[in-house]
Amino acid sequence: MASSSSSLVSFGQQHVTKGLGRVVEDVFEKGEGSYVTMKSGRKMLDFTCGIAVTNLGHCHPKVSKAAADQCMNMVHGQCSIAFHEPYLKLIEKLIPIMPDKSLDSFFFWNSGSEAVEGAIKMARVITGRPNIIAMQGGYHGRTFGAMAVTKSKTIYSLGVAPLMPGVFATPFPYWHHFNGKPSMSEDELVRQSLYQLELVLSQQSAPTDTAAILIEPIIGEGGYVVAPPAYLKGLREICDKHGILLIMDEVQSGFGRTGKYFACEWSGVRPDIMTVAKGLANGFPLSAIISRRELTDQLKPGFMGGTYAGNAVSCAAGVAVAEAFEEEKILDNVLVRSSELFSALNALASKPHIKPHVLEVRGKGLMVGLEFASPSHSAYDPAVNKNTPQNLASRVAKRCVEKGMLILTTSVYETVRFIPPLNVSKEDLEKGIKIFEEALEEVVKEG
Ligand SMILES: Cc1ncc(COP(=O)(O)O)c(C=O)c1O
Repeated sequence: MASSSSSLVSFGQQHVTKGLGRVVEDVFEKGEGSYVTMKSGRKMLDFTCGIAVTNLGHCHPKVSKAAADQCMNMVHGQCSIAFHEPYLKLIEKLIPIMPDKSLDSFFFWNSGSEAVEGAIKMARVITGRPNIIAMQGGYHGRTFGAMAVTKSKTIYSLGVAPLMPGVFATPFPYWHHFNGKPSMSEDELVRQSLYQLELVLSQQSAPTDTAAILIEPIIGEGGYVVAPPAYLKGLREICDKHGILLIMDEVQSGFGRTGKYFACEWSGVRPDIMTVAKGLANGFPLSAIISRRELTDQLKPGFMGGTYAGNAVSCAAGVAVAEAFEEEKILDNVLVRSSELFSALNALASKPHIKPHVLEVRGKGLMVGLEFASPSHSAYDPAVNKNTPQNLASRVAKRCVEKGMLILTTSVYETVRFIPPLNVSKEDLEKGIKIFEEALEEVVKEG
């Protein structure tokens, strides 16, 4: 096979399924810290972290070494045959950082989707109830159960129906879901969203038929929207009142991304089941379903499992990630870089010629979204979108890529998401902001 970038891309275009999207037509060659080098020779700043995965930067030396060492000791210690040490060590590392002491039961899997599947399965069996209420705008993955509770964009399940039954949707507290504006008050959003949930419970899925309510405390793929703490508290109360389990999907928002280990900590609301993945092992496939022993003790041995579940190399990497968080004071860096990022984006958004094009800068820690005014949403306020350039988010993201920075958009709203490494330096953050600013200026000028 020829090995130039263009010949490899052309080979991939022919033989990799067309069902896979792509941001850049090149081939990854190397990753180091906040940068990736492509086969074409381009070195790019990576503000995607492979969709919030390489949170400690690419090939973090401690994590890669731990994985390499484990590779020479045992790669596959099948978890239904016997425990292996990295699995248990990882639990030992995770217990002290759980958002609530009650979360003391762990099952490791490979992907976020699998963790969501497992959480749904557990919730149904533990409660003996069939239904799951998911959030409009939520994203939970591509496997069958996870796809059924995903409500961020139709493409993920287009033409696939019938999906898993017993799934109902309620609006996430996001102003778009109420034909509102970014200025809509948080109290009003919370009030309306909880009212809609109460309606779902009285019109569609009776509490006694409802096993769980599933929510991302910060909606990820669906737009980078933070759930107001009062909404999460409201959910907790409704769940407690009716014996419904609260599942928090922290696959994207978890493991330090928001400046706390888990985004739900900002609200003080405890989940009954939590799903975690992505940053957990900094790129080695690993996810976790975390719950309370009193709940998981009801499961029969053999109910959970999976050939590759809790792979020893991934778990060893996870242990190293947890240690690096402490040693390198990662959460402190997130908070400092976060305030720099918010200041810069807010300053940019308030420039007179940019202001009409930006609806909102939002997020938490280093999970930050900037939403543009988009003609496709003119329904809620035509005045906002008059003479607004089309598809700003995707055009700005594309221009950033041309300028040497990988960056992603989110689902159906015109939002660019900033997911830099959690240990990003001040200089690299500034560099990324500058690229974004230049890209935005150019795209706005072009109209
Ligand atoms: C919140 C959330 N849940 C679940 C998933 C699915 O994870 P995976 O792609 O590892 O299956 C994702 C992936 O982006 C996610 O953001």
